[in-house]
Amino acid sequence: MPSSLLFELTDGVARITVNRPDKLNALNAIVISEIGDAVTRIETDAAIRGVIVTGAGTKAFVAGADISELTDQGPTGGRHRAVAGQQVFRRLERCGKPVIAAVNGFALGGGCELAMACHLRVASENAKFGQPEVKLGIAPGYGGTVRLPRLVGKARALELLLTGEMIDAQEALRIGLVNRVVSPERLLPEAEGLLRVILANGPLAVRACLEAVDIGLEMSVDQALLLEAGYFGLLSATDDMREGTRAFVEKRRPNFKGA
Ligand code: COA
Repeated sequence: MPSSLLFELTDGVARITVNRPDKLNALNAIVISEIGDAVTRIETDAAIRGVIVTGAGTKAFVAGADISELTDQGPTGGRHRAVAGQQVFRRLERCGKPVIAAVNGFALGGGCELAMACHLRVASENAKFGQPEVKLGIAPGYGGTVRLPRLVGKARALELLLTGEMIDAQEALRIGLVNRVVSPERLLPEAEGLLRVILANGPLAVRACLEAVDIGLEMSVDQALLLEAGYFGLLSATDDMREGTRAFVEKRRPNFKGA
């Protein structure tokens, strides 16, 4: 049986592809566990500098949790399933390397939640987003009620969460759920191009931005400013900061080492 998660590493970029196209890449327990394994590799392999997450085929990014696994679950199993998925997505979000979702079709329920756990989202014109869990008598369990309001605001998030209706890529762009919308053929090149722009920058500085925003959003303005100053000071001790500033003065491209 082909693996339900593909992992390819090319020139520092790991591409993770959820590979169950006949089930619109629905996330069953095996895929969640395999994403967890992929995150461990991303965290620990220094050759991986950035990540693209996408879905196999042309129809779906991920059409949600695998509904066939939900029908018989009880409260303990349901809670366990939610926590397991939340932990994997949170580890992806906190992996310290930039992660971009290339959303190639339906991103529903757990699919929308997976895309939101990525740092940036590029969508193809045929992408559709939604949190349709309420139509199944459940509520999101992989971070939808947490990340959606943080990304698009409370009212827009509640409209999506309470109606369960889908929005298209242009509407997702309008409300700030995605960063860019491109044609299906341009999706992966655009996502990779965006990632390569980020990877040309100092990796420690990129990591500091990811951490400062992630942690700082949960703090008061004064605490977050203090945190930011701490990162600024820490980065001032790096070779990369010296290289980056000298390269500017010497009118050349910097050669960052991540140290
Ligand atoms: N879980 C399990 N299987 C799923 C699935 C999911 N979330 N989403 C789609 N599939 C399966 C379908 O059961 C079907 O399998 P089959 O061919 O063995 O019957 C296959 O994927 C194709 O889906 P289908 O519904 O026939 O495609 P469609 O084009 O008619 O509709 C959707 C596409 C996305 C609108 C529809 O599949 C859908 O509503 N999916 C569920 C979305 C959802 O509620 N997600 C949140 C889950 S918590």
